Formats: sequence, C-alpha cells, structure tokens
Amino acid sequence: MPVYCITGTNRGIGLELVRQLSRSPSNTILATTRPSADLTDLHAAASPTTHILPCDTADLSSVRQFAESAAKLLRDPNLRIDYLINNAGLSLSAFGAVGESLHLEPDDVLKQISVNVLGPAKMVEYLMEKDVLADSVRVVNVSSVMGSLSKMGEMQPRRVAGYSISKAALNMLSVHQAGDIRSRLSRAVVVVLDPGWVRTRMGGEWATLSVEECVARSLQLVHGLGGGDNGRFLEYTGMETPW
Ligand SMILES: NC(=O)c1ccc[n+]([C@@H]2O[C@H](COP(=O)([O-])OP(=O)(O)OC[C@H]3O[C@@H](n4cnc5c(N)ncnc54)[C@H](OP(=O)(O)O)[C@@H]3O)[C@@H](O)[C@H]2O)c1
Repeated sequence: MPVYCITGTNRGIGLELVRQLSRSPSNTILATTRPSADLTDLHAAASPTTHILPCDTADLSSVRQFAESAAKLLRDPNLRIDYLINNAGLSLSAFGAVGESLHLEPDDVLKQISVNVLGPAKMVEYLMEKDVLADSVRVVNVSSVMGSLSKMGEMQPRRVAGYSISKAALNMLSVHQAGDIRSRLSRAVVVVLDPGWVRTRMGGEWATLSVEECVARSLQLVHGLGGGDNGRFLEYTGMETPW
C-alpha cells in the first residue's frame, strides 16, 4: 500500500502523476494544490484513495498546515509517505527572453525561489517533524536541465535566468538534503529529476515530450530507485544529468 505525496497536482505533470498512480487501487495519494486551484480535472483523475488537500508551497504556514493534515490522515503507523514528489514549480521568465540576467526583477526571482526552493525544503522539514515520512522515503525534487550549471554553460543564447537560478538552487538544496536526511531516515533517497521538455502550460505546445510519456517514464525511474541513487541528478530516461 504505497503512499505518494505530490505537490502542484491540478494541472500539468502533477495532474498526470495523479492520473497514472490512480490506476492502482492500492496506491494512497496525497495530492496537493493551491487553495484557489480549479479542481475539475483533478477530481476526474483521482481514485477513491486520493486525498486532495490544499497547500500553497510558497506559503510556509500553508505547508505546515498541510503537514498537520497529512499526519491526521496517516494516523495508522503502517501508513507513511513512501514517495514525496516535490513537483509544484513556477517560471516567471518569458521563454523567448534573452539577456534576462542583466535586468533581473527582484520580486520575480524571490517568488520563484520561494516556490521552487523553499517549498521543497519545508515540505521535507515539516513532514519529517510530523514523523510521516517512511524510513525509506524517496524524495523527488522536480528540477530542470535549466538548473544545470554545465548544460546552461553550453547554451547560446542563455535563457530564463530567474527560473534557472531557482532550479540551480533547488539542485543544491537536494545535495544538502541527500547528505542530511539519513541522520533521521536511514534508508531515505533524495534525487533531482529533470522531466524533459514537456507539453504543459509551462513547457508550451512546442515541447518535444507528451506529459503521458514524461510521467510514465519518470514513475518507472522513481520506482526503480535504490539506496545508491541518493543525491543523483537524473533525467526522466534514467540518464545522469550533469550538475
Ligand atoms: N514542462 C516542462 O517542460 C518542464 C521542464 C523542466 C522542469 N519542469 C518542472 O516540472 C514541474 C511541473 O511543471 P509543469 O510543466 O507541470 O508546469 P505547469 O503546468 O505550469 O504546472 C505547475 C504546477 O505547479 C503549481 N504551483 C505553482 N506555484 C505553486 C504554489 N505556490 N503552491 C502550490 N502549487 C503551485 C501550479 O498550480 P497553479 O495552477 O495553482 O498555478 C501547477 O499545478 C515544475 O517544477 C517545473 O519547473 C517542467
């Protein structure tokens, strides 16, 4: 009876994760959305064992409240979160915009760091405080090739500076989490996932990968993670992504 916790599930990759995981009645899913989200598609995708809960990952009190709700739902000590997928993400950079690093908008950078970095950090911290993470939890921080210092260094022209800065920071957070988490959860694994370029609102219609394929292959990867994968940066195909 695996338990999944997924953030940002009202659309895009998060919604498709719920849709595919809902096919197995043995999966318990904690699917979070911003309180203001339209839940029509999520309700249609959800199974009877999917619990839809509010969580604005940019708002620390909302993340704390969600952790409390999760602890109430998971009162049975046999039910612990086996997979925490920190999927919610925000890009405020216009895709075509080049030269953005020369005129960064401070509020936009801070908002992206808040959702893309502090959200995943506090999800782990508060869920751990509530003792609802399994000892062998797989924490999957959904990042991007845009957060790879070496890949971005090869790109010309360089794009989406604010977003890529926040995803590079998420990558570094994950390196720290991978180092620290086993002091509390002895078999835990933290990985960074690059989901590819996916046709969602964020990825746009020209993206090369369907959301169905991205999620099917990402789930295959996540289910195959072993202890030796702790701290790796992996593409949805299972290939190592360079930092
Ligand atoms: N699509 C791609 O090509 C691509 C490539 C690389 C990485 N990624 C990463 O993959 C993840 C999913 O992206 P996507 O393509 O599915 O994007 P998307 O279609 O734009 O969906 C983003 C999701 O994140 C949620 N979200 C944003 N801010 C939030 C907040 N403060 N609290 C809670 N939820 C919040 C959104 O909810 P609302 O509807 O309420 O805004 C939405 O559910 C992101 O982390 C993204 O950076 C995507």
